[in-house]
Amino acid sequence: MTSAGATSPRPLVILISGTGSNMQAIVRAAQQRRWRERYRAEVAAVISNRPDAKGLAWAAEQGVPTAVVDHQAYPSREAFDEALAQAIARFDPHGRGLVILAGFMRILTPGFVQHHEGRIVNIHPSLLPAFPGLHTHRRAIEAGCRFAGATVHLVTAELDHGPILEQAVVPILPGDTPETLAARVLTQEHLIYPRAIERWLRDAGA
Ligand code: GRF
Repeated sequence: MTSAGATSPRPLVILISGTGSNMQAIVRAAQQRRWRERYRAEVAAVISNRPDAKGLAWAAEQGVPTAVVDHQAYPSREAFDEALAQAIARFDPHGRGLVILAGFMRILTPGFVQHHEGRIVNIHPSLLPAFPGLHTHRRAIEAGCRFAGATVHLVTAELDHGPILEQAVVPILPGDTPETLAARVLTQEHLIYPRAIERWLRDAGA
């Protein structure tokens, strides 16, 4: 981070691949909880690896800048991540902000994670360290778990394993399907993700 950047605002750059319901919850929280006044932080951009991601249109309607870095246009993960890092740097030139993975369905390379170390967060739809990876709700139901949930964590080179910032617990009800459980967990995700980001901003200072 440059000395000139030490006092610059903290840009929040949100990465999505689909609907972006978590992104929407974060944008709303930033406005309603006055993150700009309180933490000099604002949602600087929403970036997607999929040009058809529904969340892009919603973000644009809110006046949030959007960008697409299409992973299918790059020959390798490293080349895609390099382009993604450059896109993020356009919105956070001093590297003081937070990269927020919100339903972003790409595994990032260790080099990308290291470049943004300590300032990338992700939300995962399980009570980590249980059920890293995909199909978390189906696996929790099949395992006979009584509870499921979601976890906000710092991103490290090991997938779905970084330090936990926030969790929410959701009971698994008789007759639950992965879809009915996912819907209840998603409601909690929209509460814990803004809360975790606000704590990160408070700890990081203005
Ligand atoms: C969420 O359950 C999130 O935990 C997972 O992807 C799902 C979709 O999120 N990573 P969104 O609606 O695109 O934010």
